[in-house]
Amino acid sequence: MKPLLTTMRGLWGGVSIMVSLTAGGAMAEGAFDKALGLDPSRYQVVNVTVDGKPMALRRYDAVYVGKPVTMATEQPARRMGPGGSPSGADTQTLTDPLTYQKLSIFVPGTASETSAIILSVNNGGWFASELQPGIEDGGAYRSDSDTDKAGAALAAGYVYVDLGSRGRGIVAADVSLPGKAPAAVIDAKAAIRYLRLNDGTLPGSAERIVITGTSGGGGLSSVVAASGNSPDYLRQLAEIGAAGVAEDGTSSLDDDVFAVIAYCPITDLGNADMAYEWLYNGIRTTQNTADNRWSERAKAASAELAAAYPAYLDGLSLTRADGTPLTSATMKAAVADEVRKEVERHAAAGGTIPARGENFEITLRQRGGERKLEVPNDWVTVENGLVTAFDIDAYLGFVAKTAALKNVPAFDRTANTGNEGVDGENSLFGASTQAYSNFSAFGWNNNDVKGDGSGPDDTGLDWAGYTSGAGAALAEQVRLINPMAYLRTEAQAAPYWYIRHGMIDRDTSFAVELSLAAAARMDDDVKSVDFRLPWMTPHSGDYDVREAYAWLAGVLARDDVARP
Ligand code: DHB
Repeated sequence: MKPLLTTMRGLWGGVSIMVSLTAGGAMAEGAFDKALGLDPSRYQVVNVTVDGKPMALRRYDAVYVGKPVTMATEQPARRMGPGGSPSGADTQTLTDPLTYQKLSIFVPGTASETSAIILSVNNGGWFASELQPGIEDGGAYRSDSDTDKAGAALAAGYVYVDLGSRGRGIVAADVSLPGKAPAAVIDAKAAIRYLRLNDGTLPGSAERIVITGTSGGGGLSSVVAASGNSPDYLRQLAEIGAAGVAEDGTSSLDDDVFAVIAYCPITDLGNADMAYEWLYNGIRTTQNTADNRWSERAKAASAELAAAYPAYLDGLSLTRADGTPLTSATMKAAVADEVRKEVERHAAAGGTIPARGENFEITLRQRGGERKLEVPNDWVTVENGLVTAFDIDAYLGFVAKTAALKNVPAFDRTANTGNEGVDGENSLFGASTQAYSNFSAFGWNNNDVKGDGSGPDDTGLDWAGYTSGAGAALAEQVRLINPMAYLRTEAQAAPYWYIRHGMIDRDTSFAVELSLAAAARMDDDVKSVDFRLPWMTPHSGDYDVREAYAWLAGVLARDDVARP
């Protein structure tokens, strides 16, 4: 049974808001729904300016689950992201032990009950993410900036939500590791359910949630957008007391979303090593491989991974937007086409493209600030705005000159080809008592570190043997965070996808991103996919905010289906 909806006027500065009343109490509610009801009168006022004009927002803070995980007060000082350095001290004290399952909701006075809700996730590196409210009292936000998503959202009258979520690196009070996959996905879905539960109480429509994030956050956004309403997550949603989940695991609320804006999603982790070597094996050198680790062992590993990718890619049965097959035979040409389109777009917009042998001047805007690079053009010729010659392998070499390639394997790295310590994405997987686990066939089968609980040396089983028996839960961790496992299935995919992966982003293979875009396009629930490899953009996000939010305004206007 659906809640009864009534409209009340006056509480919200003359704007009507929806209030939900449950009829007769007969509805199969989530076990914690009463406790998770948001009290609309409990907010802080946040004063900001948007495009120079004052705007008062209401800010609501909440723990979005009924049974939050109790975290240890002292946390190991964890790395803040891949390649990041330890943050200094050995331990850090958690000032807010609930931060990993909290959200902040910012409601502009201009929001109505049909306004979109931007759900901004962090999940950088798939690490645990403290709640970091992106809108501050006294802040000045702008809608005419390419880097200010809060400004774009507020100017459009959208509700804006920031999310804390579990991820690798955090330790619970019982010294288990509660952030292993798929914890971040469970938390994001719990937050969506929380927004649905309280949909009648606040402006903004939970039927128009737009999930957005970068890199690990792009991966999280993509899998949430792909796997809407899948029952696969209910057991773990019940464990944390998510809204709309009864004790017996039945669900009375949806967790699908309307749209996704994903930057450089780090995803399909179980296959990403193969995709990486398949693309880059031929151009790797000692010089362009991180830490110069292009040893004989790394070379053999790269070749083996590269050779294994076509069977996986071809098994996906993907097609391109024009209906032609996207396979191992066509993928490189498809990547080249995307880059070529970007070159021609750049030329059409008045940008210059150096002649062969002349330098591209690239400004890298990354976490650490701005860096300028000059890299010669050895890959493209443009005449009268059109690409007349293009060398994809030289292009890939060019990408690797802007940032050294990850060493081998790129993701399932620990205990392989001389890689030591918990590196790559390994600490995201394994039991909650285990520091790390390999999570793919190559990584597992080549682990020879005795006593780490991973690999045939410890289990007596290869990857196939292990994951089909005692290690089924490990394979399930990999699947539950992978949008490719949910697109083109019964799960309710978001109808609208905006995916960007920078043209010089080497953090994952272009093949992973083209496959994701293709699978989304082929999903029956999906109405449109807007995919690009933006011009000379490295691993980063939220650099094209005007374009992204114009796209969103367009799909919101186009999606004229009456939504509650
Ligand atoms: C991120 C970057 C990576 O290279 C990776 O493997 C995972 C996550 C990130 O920036 O979030």
